[in-house]
Amino acid sequence: METSLLTVDHRHIWHPFTQMKEHEQDPPVLVTGAEGCDLLLEGGRRVLDGISSWWTNIHGHGHPRLVEAMGRQGARIDHVMFAGFTHAPAIELVARLQPKLPPNLTRCFFSDNGSTAVEVALKMAFQAQLQQGRAGRTRFGALAEGYHGDTLGAVAVGELDNFLTGIFRPLLAACDRLVVPEDPRRELHPDLDGWDAKLAGALEDVRAFFAEHGDRMAAFIAEPLLQAAGGMRMWPVEVLRELRTQCDRHGVYLILDEVMTGFGRTGTLFTYGQSEVEPDFMCLSKGLTGGILPLSLTWTTDEVYGRFWGDYADGLAFLHGHSYTANPLACAVACAGLRLFDEEPVLARAQALGAAMREAWGGLADHPAVRRTRSLGTVVACQVVDPATGRPHLAAERFPWKFHRKGLDHGLLVRPIGDCLYLMPPLATPPERIPEAVATIRRLLDEA
Ligand SMILES: Cc1ncc(COP(=O)(O)O)c(C=O)c1O
Repeated sequence: METSLLTVDHRHIWHPFTQMKEHEQDPPVLVTGAEGCDLLLEGGRRVLDGISSWWTNIHGHGHPRLVEAMGRQGARIDHVMFAGFTHAPAIELVARLQPKLPPNLTRCFFSDNGSTAVEVALKMAFQAQLQQGRAGRTRFGALAEGYHGDTLGAVAVGELDNFLTGIFRPLLAACDRLVVPEDPRRELHPDLDGWDAKLAGALEDVRAFFAEHGDRMAAFIAEPLLQAAGGMRMWPVEVLRELRTQCDRHGVYLILDEVMTGFGRTGTLFTYGQSEVEPDFMCLSKGLTGGILPLSLTWTTDEVYGRFWGDYADGLAFLHGHSYTANPLACAVACAGLRLFDEEPVLARAQALGAAMREAWGGLADHPAVRRTRSLGTVVACQVVDPATGRPHLAAERFPWKFHRKGLDHGLLVRPIGDCLYLMPPLATPPERIPEAVATIRRLLDEA
């Protein structure tokens, strides 16, 4: 049975982020079950989901309350179009979530993945500028090394030199990129020599960037404090605050992409809360449903909403939507996940998990292959070098893939991004599981 499944997979399925030729020798692994913080693989292997299944899983796989909410909702309304109709799960979701957000974010637009949440924010920001007579705001600003998804708008504001996305350059909206430094204060063994001057320089760079590009940008987008796909780059809160100041000064909307950082991942429910910065748009997805169903939200302000207010004849409406906008099952599961945050000490448990991760990860710092161990909430990361050269492994060595495959043999799902090795298990992972996971990583590094 399993063999025939893989045969059909091989014949017909094109997997994401994959050079399919690699699967000729090394086929995809059949997942047969998911329980709590573990995945069950064909042949009976059990692995810790050390990257939360692409950063989605929060409460653990198959959480009974989320699964029950899905079943209950399925029996009531499975799906209905969201133009001209509404339903209780969507209404309950926004009512539960809005008080947890920056108070200025009062208006919510539904879509179904992180990329579309970003597309919506970009399009709304552009149109809102246009509708206040600023037709020249045709560009976006973004952080270098950012990642916001794989649709063309999201690619336009991401780092084009990663993931081969540069080839799409001729098709993309115009974007200027601001380089920001990583924050050494997140490192477990920081060297803060010269940091004050570097930080002052970074703030000056923000001001210079806006002086040059500020009057032609519709919006500036950033992943708050943690650029995940860019290689778990943890950047300074002071820079985020300066971005807010400069956006205000230059009439540029600030979009915070909390698709990955939301729902407790960095230690607070949302990461903006660590900065007191209130964005004009916030994009949420991934952990929104606890990692069970696709759903996303783009939140914005009354000010932006007001720019679209009028009669059809005025041509102001935001004419955007998706077939599965506000899918009731996904909304019901998201509500159940938020109820867990309210009724159980999810964040306190995440803090205990984060502390266990930081402590265990610190023990890797003396490994000859490891540089710059760092942590933020329940994310720990480091850079891996070839101990023989002290430099990152050559791309041709396929270090991240080999490390990932070996990890599965040792009971751990990890998937380095280039030379960045990180661990980001579900928030519900028992802290006692962490020392073993980090010991496994040490063994894998010894063998790499
Ligand atoms: C910060 C950020 N934004 C957007 C996305 C895109 O989300 P999706 O993969 O659901 O389209 C991701 C995905 O990793 C992300 O990390």
